[in-house]
Amino acid sequence: MLSEKDFIPQGYTGTAQNGSFKWSAPSNIALVKYWGKKENQIPANPSVSFTLSNCKTITELKFEEKRDDGFSFDLFFEGKPKESFRPKIEKFFQRTAAYLPFLEKYHFTIDTQNTFPHSSGIASSASGMAALAVNLMSLERLLNPEMTEEYFYKKTSFLARLGSGSACRSVRGSAVVWGENKEIEGSSDLFGASFPDTLHADFTNFQDTILLIDKGEKQVSSTVGHDLMHGHPFAQQRFAQAHDNLSKMRAALVSGDMDAFISITESEALTLHAMMMTSHPYFILMKPNTLEVINRIWAYRETAKIPVCFTLDAGANVHVLYPENVKDKVLEFIKNELVALCQNSQYICDAIGDGAVQY
Ligand code: PMV
Repeated sequence: MLSEKDFIPQGYTGTAQNGSFKWSAPSNIALVKYWGKKENQIPANPSVSFTLSNCKTITELKFEEKRDDGFSFDLFFEGKPKESFRPKIEKFFQRTAAYLPFLEKYHFTIDTQNTFPHSSGIASSASGMAALAVNLMSLERLLNPEMTEEYFYKKTSFLARLGSGSACRSVRGSAVVWGENKEIEGSSDLFGASFPDTLHADFTNFQDTILLIDKGEKQVSSTVGHDLMHGHPFAQQRFAQAHDNLSKMRAALVSGDMDAFISITESEALTLHAMMMTSHPYFILMKPNTLEVINRIWAYRETAKIPVCFTLDAGANVHVLYPENVKDKVLEFIKNELVALCQNSQYICDAIGDGAVQY
């Protein structure tokens, strides 16, 4: 089993003076949710997600050797300097410096953009951190050309995790487990691992239509939310339940048991928000239209007998999940009944995807 020490390089054989890389990394949507963490971004419970395809961050990393010590980088978002991103990147560099000893040896220019609208309420931290991590690993691969493909992706996920926990599930597709679970071989607290079994055909082209309910700034960040699981009255039961739900979800993803998939997915989403509502201080990230959408999805599923369900991230937006073979019907339902509940009628059609791509 790999440990943190395995990600500390033992010297480099290659050299690189300057150059650039460009990668995209997608967002992901958790089915079993990560909420609560230990030191160093170790999750309090395991999670599993579908990697998305269309919602992604595209990042170009230019590097140039320098002589002085210290981190040095310029940041651009959609072609314009973006100083407000600096503290996050600075922190990421600090956290990863022990594993990427070359960080202080280069000046970097980081040029990044998202395919989804800015401040849409879609968290860009997962895709953003994964895109940055995979670029940095491309540079490390230049310095260590013997690196295996397997190590390249594991370490990318390991580094992305240090930027934002869920980012470690955004490196590869199409379903990723993060967090050690004794039944899932290869699962680790340190990086995302590919779902160990073949997904049932009904899940291979699964759809995720993201309804943008509220684009405002969240009142409570995920960092604060994770922290509030320390001393939370239901924390231990919740962490145990996530292990149990992961086993049940694994069985459903393999067998194609859609009823089980729906009930675990929706229960996980509501449990995540229940944890927020029962922490101290307590908070609510759902909005009235979040609840209205959920009720309409339930009513539609009941009458149309179509396997469509929802999940939620740490925010008000609703992810509508369904198999590809009911896509036309569900999109019609979304247009007729749900779009009016979205802010500025905005929604994004996405689907399960394959992970980071180099340009
Ligand atoms: O990666 P973070 O620290 O932003 O946490 C996000 C956690 C959830 O999105 C709410 C759940 C998950 O597993 O992705």
